[in-house]
Amino acid sequence: TGSFTYDPGFTSTGSCESKITFIDGDEGVLLHRGYAIQDLAEHCDFPEVCFLLLNGHLPDAAEKENFEGIIRRHTMVHEQLTRFFSGFRRDAHPMAIMCGVVGALSAFYHDSTNIDDPKQRMIASHRLVAKIPTLAAMAYKYSVGQPFMYPRNDLSYSENFLYMTFGTPCEPYKVNPILSRAMDKIFILHADHEQNASTSTVRLAGSSGANPFACIAAGIACLWGPAHGGANEAVLKMLEEIGSVDRIPEIVRRAKDKNDNFRLMGFGHRVYKNYDPRAQVMRATCHEVLGELGIKDEPLLDIAMELEKIALEDEYFIEKKLYPNVDFYSGIILKAMGFPTSMFTVLFALARTVGWISQWKEMIEDKDQKIGRPRQLYTGETRRDFVPLAQRG
Ligand code: CMC
Repeated sequence: TGSFTYDPGFTSTGSCESKITFIDGDEGVLLHRGYAIQDLAEHCDFPEVCFLLLNGHLPDAAEKENFEGIIRRHTMVHEQLTRFFSGFRRDAHPMAIMCGVVGALSAFYHDSTNIDDPKQRMIASHRLVAKIPTLAAMAYKYSVGQPFMYPRNDLSYSENFLYMTFGTPCEPYKVNPILSRAMDKIFILHADHEQNASTSTVRLAGSSGANPFACIAAGIACLWGPAHGGANEAVLKMLEEIGSVDRIPEIVRRAKDKNDNFRLMGFGHRVYKNYDPRAQVMRATCHEVLGELGIKDEPLLDIAMELEKIALEDEYFIEKKLYPNVDFYSGIILKAMGFPTSMFTVLFALARTVGWISQWKEMIEDKDQKIGRPRQLYTGETRRDFVPLAQRG
């Protein structure tokens, strides 16, 4: 049935051509459409980066204003969608809710499920980028039993998200420009990362012609795992479990032990064999946010910094080229901003939506695109004679 290469985990398989994101894992370089992630995080806001990923160039002032206007027009979700939430248990994980409600968008925006129409593909992209903060904030509100807050289109993308999350009808959220800027940076740092597991999932789902909302729901499901986007939640839990700096050597010993499944969460990456450039910006942002919030003594940050120091000097981590990744410091910032741990991966999904949909669009527009269909190495039984039920056992 034809020859193929056996490549578990796709460690050496290139699945597509792409013009969106470039990574040099050995050098620790990440470029979006040619621009360094450090420059984008320093000089752009998130909508500019969304425009860049979707359209291939940074917007000029008029394009930026127009794009922001389009996104604002789509921030509300269909009112009936709010009822979808009440079907979930109150203690449902917000990622479980996100998998469901994002997939459910397909049932509300039929026009945007027409993937053959380029205009509708762009509208679907705008709808997803605009509505995902609204849905993420609703997932949070549902978990704490507070009323949903409608989007406020006079605010920026990040300000509006923080408002919908932390505002209440009786005490509206007071915009803090430093926190909104930090939120923006966190979104930018997570916006895209070429053919990672969730992006490949989105592309694979889309390769069958599935609609964009269903594809993004598939990406969210994949992101949830602790080896991927779920790592930010797992890092914070790990730091809390470590509890004090003097327990770090024991944790490092466990991470190195071949007979122990424990891994240092927030360390290591399939592609980066150097410091993840996103982690460097995240580390600096972490210090800024704690400073702004007047948090002088955050034991988790002390543990994280000491853990990083010890791991980076350890032969095991040096030899295996294991460095902190984007998830290592993000949880500490998000916790300081007031997000519960269960929302961390939701924030990753929110930011990655633009990357996923840009990659989906690129794939649909690629003339060589085929349905994704890996092969397998069959290791089961060879042909056997059928045994009727009465004669088995
Ligand atoms: N702690 C201890 N040892 C590790 C770790 C770690 N975090 N990561 C990798 N190793 C070891 C691993 O045991 C293996 O050792 P050996 O060669 O002796 O068997 C070696 O390093 C290579 O690991 P691998 O699992 O073959 O590498 P991979 O490319 O398949 O996995 C990874 C990459 C990110 C899944 C892995 O490093 C990991 O599980 N890290 C912890 C979870 C994490 O932080 N994930 C977030 C990734 S970045 C953001 C995102 O993608 O969402």
